[in-house]
Amino acid sequence: MRNLIKIDGFFMTNLVSPHGLESLKPLFIKDSEEKTEIIKSSKNLPKIMLNSAAAANVVMLGAGYFTPLSGFMDKSDAISVARDMVTESGLFWPIPILNITKEISSNIKAGSEIALLDPNVDGNPIIAIQTIKDIEELNNDELEEITKNIFGTTDAEHPGVKNFMSLGNIIISGEIKVLNYSYFPKEFPGTFATAQEIRDMLTTANWQKVVAFQTRNPMHRAHEELCKMALDRLNADGVLIHMTLGKLKEGDIPGDIRDAAIRKMVELYFPKNTAIISGFGFDMLYAGPKEALLHATFRQNCGCSHLIVGRDHAGVGDYYEPFEAQEIFDCDVVKNSLKIQIFAADHTAFSRKLNKVVMMRDVEDHTKDDFVLLSGTKVREMLSEGIDLPQEFARKEVADILMRYYQLKK
Ligand code: ADX
Repeated sequence: MRNLIKIDGFFMTNLVSPHGLESLKPLFIKDSEEKTEIIKSSKNLPKIMLNSAAAANVVMLGAGYFTPLSGFMDKSDAISVARDMVTESGLFWPIPILNITKEISSNIKAGSEIALLDPNVDGNPIIAIQTIKDIEELNNDELEEITKNIFGTTDAEHPGVKNFMSLGNIIISGEIKVLNYSYFPKEFPGTFATAQEIRDMLTTANWQKVVAFQTRNPMHRAHEELCKMALDRLNADGVLIHMTLGKLKEGDIPGDIRDAAIRKMVELYFPKNTAIISGFGFDMLYAGPKEALLHATFRQNCGCSHLIVGRDHAGVGDYYEPFEAQEIFDCDVVKNSLKIQIFAADHTAFSRKLNKVVMMRDVEDHTKDDFVLLSGTKVREMLSEGIDLPQEFARKEVADILMRYYQLKK
């Protein structure tokens, strides 16, 4: 048992400090009087409907995940972040955080306040108030350059590019005050958590070396073993299984099903007190390497010392090289800015020879035929065709949950 220091009634551990600051900067308004006042005065403000990606940015900013940002970026930061991964003021940040829209009414001007409406909740309630710093347009070349720098491609078939290109070209920058976390607390009670809540969970567990596992999938055997290998090889105190709860591309398995499958797997197959399951309210971007950096940045904000980055992290189709998302962590700007490190995993597959999941680089005596290759895409394909998942792919109890979902979906 480690020695914990008690300050102001809280136990303090040595979790890694947040990005760019000594403590988190959540933009959520906690004080109920201040919130009531803001809600009252916001009734008369001009309103704009956010797109889903911008609303997800609000949730991440509110929940402290995007510390130390204080709101939406302006055009020069957007271009600089996309190109060089630093803001104009020199802060490392991997992906522009934008409130981007198609049109804006003439009564909305720089210097004024606006109420931001949530497109993902019935009745479109106000999710945040923004003080407008600037309203700027991106021309086609600028939009294309930003897209290419985020996604590595401008191919409209790429789901992230397709979505980003459809959002418009007017950037509304400025600080925000966040009033709620959209649909996440209601739809994912007990799973959605803020960065501070995660830090508190890690502190309560008395963990310091914590490896985060990002996932948008129910966990198949490769995922499970990746977590266990990382725990073992890093000699970590625990793994934070941290799932994407926001919007996914068509065909991906919805959050509640994934949540249930992951919980069952951890309950049955992880040693007690080695895994914490949680989730965050952000839409998948499918931006591969750049998204891996964003994933690492906000896991540092959650207090994690490591992030597992395996094959084709946050990738889609064949847009990225299998280990590009690991290589990007070798850039100087990343090494000099982030404290979190990656656990760089090789392709993980089931070995017929050893009857267990292995990292392919660890078993030199194997030939191609000795492996059963595991992937989320393959699992989804089999399930949608009604084919039972073999035990090399998924634990039986996990497979049962997934199969039930696919049968009901029909
Ligand atoms: S992601 O889009 O959220 O990254 P996914 O849930 O499939 O997708 O992957 C979660 C993590 O596991 C990523 O770091 C990914 O690289 C890694 N991963 C998934 N499958 C494998 C595999 N077979 N071998 C190595 N790493 C893998």
